[in-house]
Amino acid sequence: MAVHKTQVGIVGAGPAGLLLGQLLHLNGIDSVILENRTRDYVIDRVRAGVLEQGTVDLLRAMGVGAGLDSRGLRHDGLYISVQQRRHRIDLADLTDGRAITVYGQNEVVKDLIDARVATGRPLNFEAGGVSIDGLDARPVIRFQHAGAEHEVRCDIIAGCDGFHGICRPSIPADALTVYERSYPFGWLGILAEVGPSSDELVYAHHERGFALFSMRSPTVTRLYLQVPPDESIDNWPDDAIWDEMVTRMMSLDGWKPNIGRIIQKGVTPMRSFVAAPMRHGRLFLAGDAAHIVPPTGAKGLNLAASDVLVLAHAVKAFYQRGQSDALDQYSDVCLRRVWRAQRFSWWMTSTLHRFPDDGPFDLQRQIADLEYLTSSRAAMTSLAEQYVGLPPEVSFESAGLSGG
Ligand code: FAD
Ligand code: DHB
Repeated sequence: MAVHKTQVGIVGAGPAGLLLGQLLHLNGIDSVILENRTRDYVIDRVRAGVLEQGTVDLLRAMGVGAGLDSRGLRHDGLYISVQQRRHRIDLADLTDGRAITVYGQNEVVKDLIDARVATGRPLNFEAGGVSIDGLDARPVIRFQHAGAEHEVRCDIIAGCDGFHGICRPSIPADALTVYERSYPFGWLGILAEVGPSSDELVYAHHERGFALFSMRSPTVTRLYLQVPPDESIDNWPDDAIWDEMVTRMMSLDGWKPNIGRIIQKGVTPMRSFVAAPMRHGRLFLAGDAAHIVPPTGAKGLNLAASDVLVLAHAVKAFYQRGQSDALDQYSDVCLRRVWRAQRFSWWMTSTLHRFPDDGPFDLQRQIADLEYLTSSRAAMTSLAEQYVGLPPEVSFESAGLSGG
């Protein structure tokens, strides 16, 4: 058995684990990151695309904003389509110049892996049989790598291993309260090799179900369709996907998505989930390991970034001033933002999707809700300030960064 020592053991090399590792490094705090998948798998996984203003500011302040600045697409607004009419919401105008940036999660992860490798600190892919122990006083992470057994002894464990990871299930069930809601639908997502026909996202309400127009670059379009929750992708030949996308998105002015070769497709279920508290002894959960939001509000990746900013601030106070009060407050501070994001994501989801039990009353109510949203400056401002992201819970300076 090989024994390693570090200050913070990080399980998971998704956005949460990699961001935390970099924030700790910038404060001179050592960490080991363990990931059970391969490097290519982690980079190639197609997921989120919308970064809040605060996430963009954070990546820049951490010195990992070069890719984002050269290839990210800043969007000052978005469209809501209702009754086949597109209404623009001017995010920047309604929020004093704040905006979102479309930059694929896989690009963010690639940039963070490069930054980690440049620090020379450990990042182990393909770690097998990862388990954690000693959460009350002496945390250890055990894993297998290249046929050998390893043990990492640390002061703190950061559980950044996503919804299906091992950290949350390592907490005794009676020490966690779980809040959960599943939705009677999922999203079929595609990437298509075709230039986007709109410069900004289109969230489309349609009586056949929700559809979302997004993009990854000037030559790649990303689109989503509401489908039944356990829908098989085999039921959706490419022509059927395009027919349904065009039906749900086409507006009376003739706008519709450009059609091209589909290069990736898959179905994702949707749920709202919160496990509280986000701490057990010396284990701190961050990102999807602690909470899941339905993707309609584009909040998941941004919440992961916000959790690790709070955690980095608390870990810094612990090592630099010997204070554990910020660690003690970690869960409460994060959960306030998590619940706001849960509410926003639930509201976006329920307002835009068709529910199987809905009748004609519900359809008219949704249309009225969306027509109010797109005609009232107060309602648009409320959406805009939540969509571009609420202010950070802790200052960048307190997490050891300049600016922000
Ligand atoms: P993950 O990205 O899940 O990373 C966890 C890591 O831990 C993974 O690499 C995993 O392989 C690893 N791991 C798991 N188990 C173990 C183990 N036992 N040992 C070691 N490692 C382990 N969010 C947004 O903000 N905006 C969006 O537009 C958006 N769109 C989305 C669209 C889709 C289709 C999906 C599926 C998600 C979307 N999200 C979006 C959500 C976003 O992708 C997640 O919230 C984000 O990935 C969370 O990051 P994380 O690091 O917490 O978890
Ligand atoms: C994307 C994903 C989302 O969940 C969303 O709300 C907006 C855009 C995207 O993948 O581009």
